[in-house]
Amino acid sequence: MSDRSDRRLVVLLSGRGSNYRALRRAEEAGWLGGEIAAVISDRVDAAGLELARADGVDTVCVARNRYPDRAAFEHALTVAIGGYRPHWIALAGFMRVLSAAFVRDHAGRMVNIHPSLLPRHRGLDTHQRVLEAGEREHGASVHFVTPELDGGPVISQVRMFVEPGDSPEKLADRLLPLEHRLLPATMALLLKSQVIARDETISIRNKTLARPLELGSDLSDDGRFLGDGGVD
Ligand code: GAR
Repeated sequence: MSDRSDRRLVVLLSGRGSNYRALRRAEEAGWLGGEIAAVISDRVDAAGLELARADGVDTVCVARNRYPDRAAFEHALTVAIGGYRPHWIALAGFMRVLSAAFVRDHAGRMVNIHPSLLPRHRGLDTHQRVLEAGEREHGASVHFVTPELDGGPVISQVRMFVEPGDSPEKLADRLLPLEHRLLPATMALLLKSQVIARDETISIRNKTLARPLELGSDLSDDGRFLGDGGVD
């Protein structure tokens, strides 16, 4: 059996990189269950690349505008990712729609953090849409990436209330620190435990997940699976 510290994570991002930073803090604190082998971006100006460089983490830029079409871009991305032989790939603010072929190549080991309680509000402008729908609850989800945009099985979620007077900006500001807890906790679970997605179902240690794990009650902040809540 491989040593946990041998587990490798590659992070894909397009911008600010605050979720990368949260993953890195977990690695530094010693509970991520693996190492961030590289940060890869589709944008040369992504601030997250700078953060990773400052941390001494390998960075690769596969700039979309250097390739004639999506297939060539995704081929270069696959080569870049493959060089690190990752056990898991985390999309942490990676703002590109990926082709079905690319997703299939990485199926079962690529997850994405999305700022809504999926299946509600796939796609963009989630905070605005929560307010427009008059919802009282908002949150973030980590899901397996499938060819359907933001449509793959959800492994974990974190919830918060919508307050009177909330704006999209206020919701985003309140949700981000929760994302910074949810993504590292989920990646630690994935890196340390046997989690498998098949079709629409997720199993943890051979038990089927009946609903997404809730941060705090089913999943601890340091990525431990808390009992059988949520598992059949
Ligand atoms: C995060 O809020 C993440 O949930 C969102 O982008 C932000 C990235 O922030 N992702 C999506 O909207 C994907 N559909 P960061 O660069 O500071 O981590």
